[in-house]
Amino acid sequence: MNENKPPSQQPMEEQGSSRLEQLELELLLEGLYRMYGYDYRNYVRNSVARRVKLRLGAERLPTITALLDRVLHDPATAQRLMQDFSIPVTEMFRDPLFFYAFRTKVIPQLRRLPEVRIWHAGCSSGEEVYSMAILLEEEGLLSKTKIYATDINETMLERARTGAFPLNRMQAYTTNYIRSGGMREFSSYYDSDQVHAHFNPELIQHALFVHHNLVTDRSFNEFHVIVCRNVMIYFDLELQSRVHDLFYESLAPSGILALGSKESLMLSQHRQNYRELDGSQKIYQTRK
Ligand SMILES: C[S@@+](CC[C@H](N)C(=O)[O-])C[C@H]1O[C@@H](n2cnc3c(N)ncnc32)[C@H](O)[C@@H]1O
Repeated sequence: MNENKPPSQQPMEEQGSSRLEQLELELLLEGLYRMYGYDYRNYVRNSVARRVKLRLGAERLPTITALLDRVLHDPATAQRLMQDFSIPVTEMFRDPLFFYAFRTKVIPQLRRLPEVRIWHAGCSSGEEVYSMAILLEEEGLLSKTKIYATDINETMLERARTGAFPLNRMQAYTTNYIRSGGMREFSSYYDSDQVHAHFNPELIQHALFVHHNLVTDRSFNEFHVIVCRNVMIYFDLELQSRVHDLFYESLAPSGILALGSKESLMLSQHRQNYRELDGSQKIYQTRK
């Protein structure tokens, strides 16, 4: 499609094919929802369309309608498509300055609490959770903290529970860790074999990795901190607003909400109910 021109100025064939594809895409998402209960109808459409195109290639199918047909009759194809939508890209101490800000601005507040509950929503394969556990351990707060780490992607949760991450990423993670204000030898947190770094299981002694879908599931506790980074970027405005409602309801008084670098509270109807603890690192605190 010629994306620079409005639809009315595009050749009929292009307009037709793009309108048809949009309809097919809607039907595919509707089918996935009605058949399997997974609701991607409010994910950013361009991103979903890109994933679907790639899946069409991988399955050697000519049209989105052909993919819908296969998805409806074959749960394994539906699973593969849902894996495509998950986009589980992550790393340890991702955006080191965020972790530095958390260490210097959030930790002093958590020290005052008798126990701490943190929810990592959209935790992927767990690198973010292990990073937080290391930070909490260094600040002497890990033993009184319960971490709930959730994701829609069961394969990633399974990986997170093992605590084994590719060894060839450790150099980059060490750099991130140092930039985030890390206090020890990063390698003291893991044992390695030839392929993986196996992180100390004590780090996640008080962590639970469980399935939770931000689109369809409700809150399950009251939290002092919610970390939801690089997840809502894939949601349209309506879904972002619903998830912001869920987070606001789930936060304790003076609770902390941490978002990703490209996300913000600007579109949340609750924005007046938060103050910025660190605006540049997207760390907010409720006024309730
Ligand atoms: C890009 S990763 C972000 C991982 C981590 N938070 C980080 O910043 O490195 C996005 C994660 O959000 C998860 N996700 C997408 N939609 C979700 C939903 N509706 N409910 C829960 N998790 C979801 C994906 O499965 C994926 O693991």
